[in-house]
Amino acid sequence: MKASILGLIGNTPIVRLGRLAGGGMAEVYVKLEYLNPTGSHKDRIAYYMIRDAEERGLIEPGDTVVEASSGNTAISVAWVSSLLGYRAEIFVEKGTSQVKIGLIKALGARVVEAEEENYAEAARRYAEEHGYLFLNQYENEANVRAHYETTGPEIYRQLGGKIDAFVMGIGTGGTISGVGRFLKEKLGEGVKIVGVVPRGSRIAGGEGAERIEGLASDIVPGIWRRYGHVVSEVIEVGFDEALQTMKTLLRSEGVLGGLSTGANVYAAMRVAERLTKGVVATIAPDTILRYPHIL
Ligand SMILES: Cc1ncc(COP(=O)(O)O)c(C=O)c1O
Repeated sequence: MKASILGLIGNTPIVRLGRLAGGGMAEVYVKLEYLNPTGSHKDRIAYYMIRDAEERGLIEPGDTVVEASSGNTAISVAWVSSLLGYRAEIFVEKGTSQVKIGLIKALGARVVEAEEENYAEAARRYAEEHGYLFLNQYENEANVRAHYETTGPEIYRQLGGKIDAFVMGIGTGGTISGVGRFLKEKLGEGVKIVGVVPRGSRIAGGEGAERIEGLASDIVPGIWRRYGHVVSEVIEVGFDEALQTMKTLLRSEGVLGGLSTGANVYAAMRVAERLTKGVVATIAPDTILRYPHIL
């Protein structure tokens, strides 16, 4: 029994994709982060970023925190804020799904649909003008630390330390940096850390990318600049490949991952084919239920 629902963040289960990854391939495992309390891996970082700011004396209950997010972090920040007594104001990019916006508002946060393309910059300016704390998941070290201290050790424990590759989509880069750093420290440079981006992403040197909600298309996050060296390879995945894999995953394995899960699993399968044996781990960041409009 947990004293608060905040204690239910993390310790998500991991499952083998026994039907999709067949003979002659490495085994593929997917960690179901959509089983976190609000439905994504971002519960971990929202809790870490707010606790970190409290510990450093930057905020106290009653204060306002500002965040820029395409949805999942917004939901997690609104949720943690309401539980710990903060006001949350969230800048979302244009085109964010109405399902996500509705939930953020229902959690008591204020939503600003940024007019300008760089909605993180709009959020930073707004926070500065009002004297509020801008959490800034794209730069915040507590984002990486959340995954270094929780997600990474969980995967390592769940797979008995036998991991040949870890595959994860890059949004802020927090998950791949934190988990990647942890696994490399434990397993050495031999473990492959593979990033996933939408085809044409600036991280892969492109100019304009296909849009896969949650993954970086036209930004290069500060975390990526600091920790990109942890990543051995970046695989580009198209929208249609992500969508098809998401649907196949749903029907053949019963895994209700969202679009970025489709991208992760698509890339993980390519890595598993190449390795031919061993273990590939990846993540289902959120659920298909966040994207009913693309089903
Ligand atoms: C659905 C989804 N998948 C993947 C990611 C990427 O995770 P990270 O920001 O840790 O790189 C995000 C981040 O926003 C996301 O919302």
